[in-house]
Parts: sequence; C-alpha cells; structure tokens
Amino acid sequence: MARVTWKSKIGFIFAAAGSAVGLANIWRFPYIVGKYGGAAFICVYLACLLLIGLPVFISEVLIGRTAQKNPRSAFKELGKNKFWAGSGTFTIITGFLISSFYSVVAGWVLGYLVSAIFGQISHFTSADQAQNFFINLVSNPVWAVGFHLFFMCLCFFLLVAGVRKGLERGSEIMVPFLLFILIALVICGVTMPGSHVGLSFYLKPDWSLITPTTFLFALGHAFFTLSLGQGTMVTYGSYLGKKDSILNNCLPVAFIDTLIALLAGLAIFPIVFAVGLKPDAGEPLVFYTLPLVFSQLKGGYILALLFFLLLTLAALTSQISAMEPLIAYLIDEKKWKRSTSVITVAMGAFLFGVPAAFSNSIDPRFTLFGMNFFDLISYVVLEIMVPLGGFLAIILLAWKWGMKKAYKAIKAGPSNFWVDNAFMKGYLWVTIKYVAPILIGIIFLQSFIRR
Ligand code: PHE
Repeated sequence: MARVTWKSKIGFIFAAAGSAVGLANIWRFPYIVGKYGGAAFICVYLACLLLIGLPVFISEVLIGRTAQKNPRSAFKELGKNKFWAGSGTFTIITGFLISSFYSVVAGWVLGYLVSAIFGQISHFTSADQAQNFFINLVSNPVWAVGFHLFFMCLCFFLLVAGVRKGLERGSEIMVPFLLFILIALVICGVTMPGSHVGLSFYLKPDWSLITPTTFLFALGHAFFTLSLGQGTMVTYGSYLGKKDSILNNCLPVAFIDTLIALLAGLAIFPIVFAVGLKPDAGEPLVFYTLPLVFSQLKGGYILALLFFLLLTLAALTSQISAMEPLIAYLIDEKKWKRSTSVITVAMGAFLFGVPAAFSNSIDPRFTLFGMNFFDLISYVVLEIMVPLGGFLAIILLAWKWGMKKAYKAIKAGPSNFWVDNAFMKGYLWVTIKYVAPILIGIIFLQSFIRR
C-alpha cells in the first residue's frame, strides 16, 4: 500500500510547525528563561538551536523521508542492526512519555479556556488573586485529571481522522492566528507602566546567571520545542515525498517556532515586572501573568478567550504529533487498525499522565530527588531522553549511514537558494557531522559531573 503523504506542498510545513509550536513556546520557554538566566539563557538557547537543534531537526526529517517508515523501522533500515532498531524504539517510547505529561499541562490550558468562557480570568485585581486562582485549580485532583482526560479525548478524535485531515487543518488555522494575538499581547505588555525592567531582564544578558544547568536546559528545550529526539520529526518526514526539499520544508518551521517563543517571552516579562511578580515563579508563570493583563484591558474577556482557545489548538497539534510515532509503529509493524492503535495509545498516555496530574494535589512531602512526580518525569524525559534520542539520530545519519549519502539526500529535489548555497553546505557538514554530536556530549557530561 502506498504511504499516506501530505495533502499539499506545504502540508509538512504546517503540520511540523503545528507540532513544533505549542506549550513549549508559550508556557515553558518564558518560565525557563525566568528561572535559568533571562537574556543570557536566551543567548545560550539560540546558540543551541543553531548549532545543535537545526542540524538534528534536518537529520531526523531526512531519516524519515529516506526510509518512508516509522522511527523504529527507519532507524533499522539506515543502521542495519538491532542496536539502531532499539534506538528507534527508544525514541518512540520517549514520545509516548512526553504525550502523557504534556496532556496534563494542556489540560490546565483547556481548563483555563473554560474559565475564560465563564469570565473568571478577566477580573483579577492583584497578582495574589491570579496566583491563588491557579493554585486552587491545579491542586484539585478532579479538575486536573478531568481536563487531562477531556484533552486526551479531543486528541483521540483528531487522530482517528488521520494524517491528512486531522494534522494539516488544525495547524493551518492556528499558527497565523497565534502570531497575531501574541503581537497584540506584546504591545499590551510593553506599554504597561514599569515594563522597562522586564524588557531589560529579557534583552540585556547578565552572564553571571549562567551555570552548567543553563546549558542542559537550553539544550533540552531546543530539542523539545522542535519536537526532536522522540520520533515525531522522523515520522512526519516519512510522509514527505522522496523529491520534496528538506531545507525548504525545515527552515521555515524552525524560524516560525523560534519567532513565536521569542514573542511569548516579550509579551510576558514586561508584565511580570510591571505587576511585581517574580520571574522565577516556574511552571505557573504564564497562568499568573496573562490573566492579569486580560483583567486590565477593555476587551479582556474576548482576548482571554481567544488566547486560551489558540493555546489549546497549539497544544492539540503538538500532542497528536507526540502520539503519532507510536501509532505509526503499531500500524506499520503490528498491522493494527488505525482506530485500535489510536485508542490504545490515547488510553495508555492518559493513564501514565494521571500521577503527573495528581502531583500538585498530593502531599508535597511525596517527592523523589527533591522533585514531585511531574517535575521528575519531565526532567528525565526532557533533559535526558530527548537529547539522547536526538544524539542517536544524528550519529546514525552522519556516522553510520554516512555524511556523503546524507548530503546527497539533502540536496535531492528542486534546486533552490539554500541547497546551492556554499555557506549552507559548509554549515550542514560541520554541524551535523562534528559540532552537534560533540556539543551534546559535552553538555551532558559537564552537567552530570558538576552536579
Ligand atoms: N514541540 C512541542 C511544543 O512546543 C512539544 C512536543 C514535543 C510535541 C515533542 C511533540 C513532541 O509544545
């Protein structure tokens, strides 16, 4: 049977952008910038994107497009032995784990969307009120698990619709609208009295804030935001035709993803400082800050509604992309029906996510290595498994399959500005073959040795 492919020429771009743009950009990026060094973190992060994230992204899409298979079979085809097949399976498991706790945060967003409908998040008069509102909600286990389940059901329906209809359509609407609303929020934030302190935190690097952890988190986030290291981009690449240009498809996605994250930070930090919140508030940062702005604006009700609707859509297109590798594997290898695969993966991810959803409601003394379950699983997955998956993909492509073949495959398809550019060629060779694998290794080692 011929493999399903993207419906239109830009189908991959929209679906991959839909996967990349999500909670990592709008929820996670601002909070880790606030926690791990402000503008200095951003500089390290952008360097990680350029030297590691983009080369790994291109490598993963190329592996998928070359093999036209799910991650396990694709790794096996290029690597030709059990180790590489096992590495492919490892990335599929990582994707599944991501989808389990990602849905918990997406559930919070969905819950906020419902609160927005009832006008509950556009009338706060102080930062304390906004904080207490969030804390009360997430510490209620019925609320947290209920919305986690609700969100998973939405994903289920989108996923049974399949690659063409489900994945492409959602992103086509979501990405442009999200850009538009973020720009509106940036304008609101920047024009608030006292916003300049936030702007300088966000834009003026203070290098003394950098620690070994900064590098690990910047690396993990660069991978997470581009949906790398866990099979998604290999799977999406496998729906590309052999003659579709890799660079024309990958570069716009990386650009849009970075732009949206930077705009989210630019919207949030001026507000954080203007209303006297702490930038290192962690996971709840977005939920504390934006409702305060919505409360101060005339059209706040509508803006809140629109914002959480778009964020829910962004989370949906990312979540389904985290579930797709395992679904593709069950269909390709185990010959399951699509609907059976989808329901199994959705139920599994829901059940795995339940302890994470409970993390904020059970006794805070139940911790492991000083972290609650949610923090622990996201640390292990995002800071260890994801970079390791990306590392394996790039080693497979550049060292096992061979850089010559890889570069030839990158060039396949219509000639264009990027492919014929000598600088681009040098950049790809050097980063894919040497810089990215070496830097991933160094960052890993230094962060564990100096712990
Ligand atoms: N890139 C997504 C985001 O920015 C998260 C994600 C990671 C989705 C991995 C799928 C796989 O939110």
